[in-house]
Amino acid sequence: MIPVLIAFSTAEGQTRKVAEFMAGVLAASGYRADVVDVASERAALVQPIYAAAIVGGSVHMGRHSGELTRFLRANAAWLATVPLAFFSVSLTAARDDGAGQAAASRMIDDALAGTDLVPACRCRIGGALRFDEYGPAKRMLARRAARDVGAEPGTDTEFTDWDGVRRFVVAFVRGYDKGSREVA
Ligand SMILES: Cc1cc2nc3c(=O)[nH]c(=O)nc-3n(C[C@H](O)[C@H](O)[C@H](O)COP(=O)(O)O)c2cc1C
Repeated sequence: MIPVLIAFSTAEGQTRKVAEFMAGVLAASGYRADVVDVASERAALVQPIYAAAIVGGSVHMGRHSGELTRFLRANAAWLATVPLAFFSVSLTAARDDGAGQAAASRMIDDALAGTDLVPACRCRIGGALRFDEYGPAKRMLARRAARDVGAEPGTDTEFTDWDGVRRFVVAFVRGYDKGSREVA
């Protein structure tokens, strides 16, 4: 069976958790997935052998990582030829107001800018805050990000809607999504 690529970028680990969860959903649907951290040495060795790709990363200071951008650009030629889904993990995505969702969507546009890639599915996924694992500077920035979404600054919280992630992956692999459509 030709595998599906799940390539992710993470700073604190929540997006790795999301990527591994997606691989589990694919496995349960009878698909095999290769899960690759775009910051790892394996990322440079990725070959265009995949039937489809799910690529995503987390947002810090309003943007996705440079590693994710570099991965998208380096692999854009073949990613354009297979069904592609993009997912973004952030606190902004956890906001339930239209402005928050629009902001999360713009950050996806920014990540894809300059690649000409048009994913069949885009997914905005709520992230997590784990203050105990941050150093002082990161804790301060995370408090501000928490306030922006109305969360309690300093309290560890997971905003990820795992059922939503499952629905996104299932919809993508079943080819339910035609054209560029967002699955929240
Ligand atoms: C230092 C820091 C800065 C962050 N900045 C933003 C931000 O600008 N916008 C946002 O929506 N979320 C922001 N977040 C929330 C992260 O996107 C969220 O914690 C996510 O789960 C991180 O995923 P990761 O663990 O895979 O890196 C920030 C988190 C931290 C710790």
